[in-house]
Amino acid sequence: MCGIVGYLGSRNSTDVILEGLTRLEYRGYDSAGVSLIENDELEIYKKEGKLNNLKSLLKKKKIQSHRGIGHTRWATHGEVNDFNAHPHATSDYSIVHNGIIENSQELKEFLMKEKHTFNYQSETDSEVFLALLDYYFKKNNNFLHAIGEAFESVRGNSAFVLMNTKENAIYCVKKSAPIVCGLSENITEGFISSDPYALVGFADRIYFPEDNVITKIELSSGETSINFYELHGQESPRYRLQESSKNLEVSKKGQFEHYMLKEVFEQPILIRKLTDFYLNDEIGIEILKKVTKTRPKMIHIMACGTAYYAGLVIKGFLEDINRIPTNVYLASEFRYQNPILNSGDLTIFISQSGETADTLASLELCKVNGVKTLSILNVEGSTLYREVDNNLLIKAGPEIGVASTKAFTQMCLMGFLFSAKLENFSDEQILSETHVLVERIDHILQSTDIIQNVASSIYRHQGFLFTGRGNHFPIALEGALKLKEIAYVHAEGYASGELKHGPIALIDDTMVNVAFCPPNLIDKTISNVQEIKARQGFIVTIGDKSNSELERISDEFIRLDFSNLEFLTGVYSNVISQLLSYYIAKLKGTDIDKPRNLAKSVTVE
Ligand code: AGP
Repeated sequence: MCGIVGYLGSRNSTDVILEGLTRLEYRGYDSAGVSLIENDELEIYKKEGKLNNLKSLLKKKKIQSHRGIGHTRWATHGEVNDFNAHPHATSDYSIVHNGIIENSQELKEFLMKEKHTFNYQSETDSEVFLALLDYYFKKNNNFLHAIGEAFESVRGNSAFVLMNTKENAIYCVKKSAPIVCGLSENITEGFISSDPYALVGFADRIYFPEDNVITKIELSSGETSINFYELHGQESPRYRLQESSKNLEVSKKGQFEHYMLKEVFEQPILIRKLTDFYLNDEIGIEILKKVTKTRPKMIHIMACGTAYYAGLVIKGFLEDINRIPTNVYLASEFRYQNPILNSGDLTIFISQSGETADTLASLELCKVNGVKTLSILNVEGSTLYREVDNNLLIKAGPEIGVASTKAFTQMCLMGFLFSAKLENFSDEQILSETHVLVERIDHILQSTDIIQNVASSIYRHQGFLFTGRGNHFPIALEGALKLKEIAYVHAEGYASGELKHGPIALIDDTMVNVAFCPPNLIDKTISNVQEIKARQGFIVTIGDKSNSELERISDEFIRLDFSNLEFLTGVYSNVISQLLSYYIAKLKGTDIDKPRNLAKSVTVE
């Protein structure tokens, strides 16, 4: 969601903040701004649209500031415009906010009842927090206490970064939203961000404050100090120190036109890395041994979006290989149910970012019920990473493309490794499957022209139905999501057998059916394809090269080789729809890495 960067130190704060916000662009946003303190004066610069608009505005100003906070906003309350962009400020202090204040109207009414006048400049809930801060600061003239009192009144997931003109300091406080703090190696500079990747190369020591802890980074006589406080002002030990940010990577596009394509091409090496870590590295072996020591009676998986579809794939492994009853829930639904969780159950939370609000909320619900919690997760140090009992890191590296590709593959593979080890598969059994997967994906990546040609024959069609059966049904759902996300076309994922129960009414010559054909359900798939063909739908099938009948009846047939693959044919087929969506989006000229309206990590509910 929103990106936040705060800086305090000897460098020009504008340069550091803009570099940090640039790294956070992948999270998705629609406006950007900075507040800078120069000679104890507070200046605000903010612009709707891309970060470049703000950069052009700042280029015209000669600003010498050593303390500032910056923000990229993904609109929740209030339209996308300059006024609603962050930071929000009075002449004395400024704030940026990530999250939602659920009781903002109530707080506004409280301030009116207290006859606290405030000159609102925007329609945002964030500015209500500024008004509340102003109220408490005027009451007790203590900035730290004002933050604590204001934050205690707020309901909802929020992170704030704040500063005032009087103190050479920057502050932050958060609840169920990402915040990370850092100090430079020579402790002359302090940093705050919503994402560790913004601090790579700047901060040497990384701190993760816990919920409801106020962090203050102060610079005096050339040295920065960092202190943590409870909301009522007493010193707090509730933070985690990570020795160094050096092991965080900052991704670059290299020779690829888009991060998304780069990340699709990274998949073979990442599959090797993941299996190597968990089968050959003693740390990985220990982790997998620990989480598969006890056999759960039942498993509940919670996730959102692509991670949810990975959950459906993993359910297939757990029920097929381990015969363990497994429920997969949309996290945004699960948290409003009265879940049936029994001791001896295992709950698994799947997430790339580890900051998805709905997934974190469902975790809270499970912890209250006292069941074991496990993550299948990409970002180490994220909120999810710190809140579960055990983590299975998928080691996909930074996924910059908003549309998830390599993380999906790694999530599914992680689930397969977990399932296989739970059933005491030998390493040879596992590697025989994963080595074939790597080789087959490599082959696809060496012949993308076939997929580009298919994309050029269908990109003008109005509607797409992705269909699949068995462990290819979740792949159909994921393929439809990818196309929606990056090409902005209507696409729906459906179980092949369900088309005749209604959706077939949609079929005419404007529609494309992308049909996944699992090796064990060929006849059924052929009859579904025939139903579509009889109604002039355009047929793209993805199946084993031996399916001559399927090839004969298809308008486009993408040949795969399922031989020697038993469990991972769906994950293999999914690479086709990743590339198909990519090339269709390219032909339509959309913003592939930062699609409109989307955010990489949805930290609001
Ligand atoms: C995937 O392409 C989407 N960007 C989105 O559905 C994403 O998978 C979902 O928001 C969950 O995010 P997470 O994996 O970081 O929890």
